[in-house]
Amino acid sequence: MPTERAAAHARAGAYLEVDLSAIQENYRRLSGRLGRAECAAVVKADAYGLGVNKVAPALWAAGARRFFVALPDEAIAVRKVLPTAQVFVLGGLFGGAERDYLAHGICPVLNSLGEIAAWRALPPAERPPAAIQFDSGLSRLGLPADEAARLIDDPSLLEGIELGFLMSHLACAEEQEHPLNSRQRQAFSDFCRRFPRMRRSFANSSGIFLGPEYHFDIARPGVALYGGNPTPGCENPMASCIRLRSRILQVRDIARGESVGYGATFTAAQPTRIATVATGYADGYSRYLSNIGRLWLADYCVPIVGRISMDLITLDVSGLPADISMPGALVDLIGDRETVDDIAEKAGTIAYEVLTSLGGRFHRIYKEA
Ligand SMILES: Cc1ncc(COP(=O)(O)O)c(C=O)c1O
Repeated sequence: MPTERAAAHARAGAYLEVDLSAIQENYRRLSGRLGRAECAAVVKADAYGLGVNKVAPALWAAGARRFFVALPDEAIAVRKVLPTAQVFVLGGLFGGAERDYLAHGICPVLNSLGEIAAWRALPPAERPPAAIQFDSGLSRLGLPADEAARLIDDPSLLEGIELGFLMSHLACAEEQEHPLNSRQRQAFSDFCRRFPRMRRSFANSSGIFLGPEYHFDIARPGVALYGGNPTPGCENPMASCIRLRSRILQVRDIARGESVGYGATFTAAQPTRIATVATGYADGYSRYLSNIGRLWLADYCVPIVGRISMDLITLDVSGLPADISMPGALVDLIGDRETVDDIAEKAGTIAYEVLTSLGGRFHRIYKEA
């Protein structure tokens, strides 16, 4: 390890390993499931917190050519590392930023008739391809039914626009049996039928697992690429991509009746050994896991006791060999044994939030094939 890297490693409280080859493997698994449909990649929010500058090129190397982000600034970041990729902004055409779309070759997902008109008003020769989003039932972004009807009545509203595809987004894809899935699919199919030969994009990660009738021409997975389970309640078909480890700073023995942490929410029922670890809610580790979460120290599962504070977590390491629970030892917070989905479930949230909350203080290590 070069000296500065070694020094930075020594200064870190926690280490986030991102396995780029596992992300590539997940891309291949999803592509394989999609058959002839194209697998794009959603890399918004810094590739779900894992680092878009590393993740997007890894996905490109695995075969992804079309990328989706939420904001124009995110698109500019992707174009910097992948100058020839097609990058679509799901949030639409941001008023006042139109020139940036042209200057950086950013493709907007046009979400309203107003955005379609604004895009057409820009110089045709400078405009990259655009997409059109139809709201099939999420009531969030995209053409609502009345605007979709006006577009169907007057397709000349699209004249001069190079259209890459039509798209829509599922509301309940992770619930296989939810009736809204087929209703949205039907509404999207009906809309697309009015624009024959246009390519169609519908499925997110979970949508891919709803079956081939949800695949259309282009899928847009995000969380499954990063190891989140797209089929909740069933075994996760994706490879896990991250490992988060943090160092023990101090170990102490407390007597029966002594309490641990802010608010004294844990009181020792017997003599107890406490290890204090250098990660807290400022690192995105939910405070909700106070007295609920568990970590792994070597092969030992250890409970969190007391409140999680901004920078620290306290663990009950009673009974563990002293050479395992000692200052400097690394504890696993997230990994194969405690996955992002496990943590999300305990914290009353979803894997997406666990991933995108991962903090900026970790020393990041990218594992490549
Ligand atoms: C429009 C759209 N498409 C695709 C995705 C990717 O979804 P997922 O991460 O569930 O695969 C998202 C993410 O929220 C989205 O907003």
